[in-house]
Amino acid sequence: MSAEEIISKIAEEVSVCTNCALHESRKKSVPGEGPANAEIMFIGEGPGFHENEQGRPFVGAAGKFLDQLLAQAGVTRVDVFIGNVVKCRPPGNRDPLPEELAACDIHLEAQIKAINPSIIVTLGRFSMNKFIPGAKISAIHGQMRKVGDRFVIPMFHPAAALHQAALKPAILADFAKLPELLKQARAAQGKSAGEKTKEETQQQNEEPKQLSLF
Ligand code: URA
Repeated sequence: MSAEEIISKIAEEVSVCTNCALHESRKKSVPGEGPANAEIMFIGEGPGFHENEQGRPFVGAAGKFLDQLLAQAGVTRVDVFIGNVVKCRPPGNRDPLPEELAACDIHLEAQIKAINPSIIVTLGRFSMNKFIPGAKISAIHGQMRKVGDRFVIPMFHPAAALHQAALKPAILADFAKLPELLKQARAAQGKSAGEKTKEETQQQNEEPKQLSLF
């Protein structure tokens, strides 16, 4: 199976997933969207009202702000994969519960394995904590670090900046730094924009074959 086919299969599995109670109130699951060979993956928290209606990530107010932040950073939405740590809407937009995060992690892990992004931008503390457990977002936002083979850039959640006006200058400044951080990450990996290293492409093409053995 190609990475694209695996991503579609995960989306199908997510649409009928009953691993946690969030499925009971979902209208549409939101598996995430973007190219299966994306170099950059943005990972948010979970669907809100509009995402639950449309089945697409970041299409509400936070999404409009994210679009603005991406445009400012010269990142085109169609070139990146955008997903969430939980794929179904927590009722009333409450925080996802630990058991919901744990139940949904199998889907996110499968997506990361198939896409094999070299750069992950986390949006909000739940996504950040998956990669940098125990960190405080107020202390490390906008600071890129290596986690395993990937670069992780923790950002404030766009919705947090909409609700707390005091955070807005920080998120704008962090996204303004994004082009430079991407440049640094690519230089460290010896490649140019959007390009995957030979090893990454090889890994992406090999892993599905290994999977199909089981
Ligand atoms: N907030 C998120 O974290 N994800 C979405 O998809 C929308 C809003």
